[in-house]
Amino acid sequence: MGTLLSSHGFSLFLLWTFTLYGLCLSFSPIDNYLINSGASLDSVVDNRRFISDSSNSPDSHLSSGRTFSLCAGTLLPGLPQIYHTARVFNSPSKYVFNVKDPGTHMVRLHFHRFNSSRLDLGNSRFHVLVNGLVALTNFSGGDLVNPKVEIRFVPAKKSNFAFVNAIEVISAPKDLVLETAQYVNGDKIEEFQGLNKQAFETMYRVTVGGPKVTPFNDSLWRTWIPDDEYLKSSEGSNKVYFGGRIKYQDGGASREVGPDNVYDSARLIRSKNASIPNVNLTWEFPVSEDYKYLVRMHFCDIASISLGLLYFNVYVNEHLAYKDLDLSDVTNYMLASPFYADFVVDAGRSGVITVSVGPSSKSMGYTVDAILNGVEIMKMNNSVCSLDGKVPAELIMKCWPRRTLGILLPLIALACLLLSLSAIVHRRKSNAELFPWSKLPTDIHEISPKQAKLQLSNIVT
Ligand SMILES: *[C@@H]1O[C@H](CO)[C@@H](O)[C@H](O)[C@H]1NC(C)=O
Ligand SMILES: *[C@@H]1O[C@H](CO)[C@@H](O)[C@H](O)[C@H]1NC(C)=O
Ligand SMILES: *[C@@H]1O[C@H](CO)[C@@H](O)[C@H](O)[C@H]1NC(C)=O
Ligand SMILES: *[C@@H]1O[C@H](CO)[C@@H](O)[C@H](O)[C@H]1NC(C)=O
Ligand SMILES: *[C@@H]1O[C@H](CO)[C@@H](O)[C@H](O)[C@H]1NC(C)=O
Ligand SMILES: *[C@@H]1O[C@H](CO)[C@@H](O)[C@H](O)[C@H]1NC(C)=O
Repeated sequence: MGTLLSSHGFSLFLLWTFTLYGLCLSFSPIDNYLINSGASLDSVVDNRRFISDSSNSPDSHLSSGRTFSLCAGTLLPGLPQIYHTARVFNSPSKYVFNVKDPGTHMVRLHFHRFNSSRLDLGNSRFHVLVNGLVALTNFSGGDLVNPKVEIRFVPAKKSNFAFVNAIEVISAPKDLVLETAQYVNGDKIEEFQGLNKQAFETMYRVTVGGPKVTPFNDSLWRTWIPDDEYLKSSEGSNKVYFGGRIKYQDGGASREVGPDNVYDSARLIRSKNASIPNVNLTWEFPVSEDYKYLVRMHFCDIASISLGLLYFNVYVNEHLAYKDLDLSDVTNYMLASPFYADFVVDAGRSGVITVSVGPSSKSMGYTVDAILNGVEIMKMNNSVCSLDGKVPAELIMKCWPRRTLGILLPLIALACLLLSLSAIVHRRKSNAELFPWSKLPTDIHEISPKQAKLQLSNIVT
């Protein structure tokens, strides 16, 4: 996770801006809580101030029985200050954040298991519930409420403990998740309704053909890793980089959906003569089975010399998901204008999700015949509203101490999810017994891909 490391003097969200267009990188979340857990002082990362959660701080947001602060003691080279301290929880504990903007929220939890002389964080064992059981207090049947984001840390056993290094709770842009997506169900394409009521955990966030994009260059402080490791067929593939301006348009993919640095690079299939290459570009992503996934594919025609020349097919899990995609048409006839498509799929039989792009029957010679700029793969909550196993939050809370979970293997984990507070309200209305949360598309595991794989089953969110 060398991604929060940049410390240059450039703020992504200093301004409150009402500019609807232009080259403004700033996204200004209404709710923007950044917590430096276990630290006595605030800490600034990429010009974002993480506030100390110590009890004498008025903004600690922490309510808990038994906790203490832990300091790494030694220098952790290359890691921001927020990873040098942690708050350790000996009993179920929670942070609560009041929300002014009742929409989708993004939650990032930072974990770094350092070993201090006092305690080895590698020995921790815990559950984390985000709005797992009590998302709203004093909710009374649909009237205006004060929604909250509540993050609970639950040690797996009495003798265990939990910890966290830093927490972010940020209201997400309204256009980040739409209501529907195409459900690629075998060879059938169906409408998937209520997308914005689901919880999501990002498994992969990949920029195609370009270098890693760090939180510094992403308006939602995300990390996009390069695609090389996932590309299965490099035959016919060319990388392309675009030095011009990405033309964001109202109603299209916004800069918050994908930053310039993702859309300005791609891989493509190009025909140099009259014959169209008979190849696909294919990427493979290992995932855990038994879940549905949201596959968001990012496109931007940064390579065609003029409009109306690029037609291609998009496949998800080897099924035709988008036939004859015409980027000129979907972007109101503008080159270098971003577009994304959302597909819901079940994990493939082998625990792999594949995405491919390839020439279609409308593809032409002497032109670009397929392109992809970015992919995100997000795990969706299962029917017990879990992103990690079949134990619902109610049980975890009721039976503390209870379920044991694998410890986090790698040093740093970054769990990130989005929750929709409006979804919470809906659920509460319909069934007060059911627990009231729904997380929305997200990003998690913003670390190196190898570590991410190890972690899939190990992070509780
Ligand atoms: C953690 O530190 C203690 C003493 O500081 C040491 O005895 C122990 O072996 C360390 N554990 C790991 C996993 O490095
Ligand atoms: C519920 O609201 C009442 C009155 O507004 C307040 O006294 C009480 O503390 C609230 N309870 C919780 C759990 O927030
Ligand atoms: C941000 O993007 C610019 C332009 O693509 C690049 O030169 C710079 O290194 C990036 N900065 C960070 C911290 O990633
Ligand atoms: C077109 O170019 C490809 C390689 O770039 C070559 O294999 C193929 O034979 C060429 N086709 C024609 C009709 O020249
Ligand atoms: C491209 O992938 C699709 C889906 O897997 C497949 O049906 C098609 O035959 C592939 N095309 C080529 C040229 O391999
Ligand atoms: C995710 O949870 C919501 C309730 O919050 C539920 O309606 C939905 O069906 C769940 N998703 C899946 C794929 O089971």
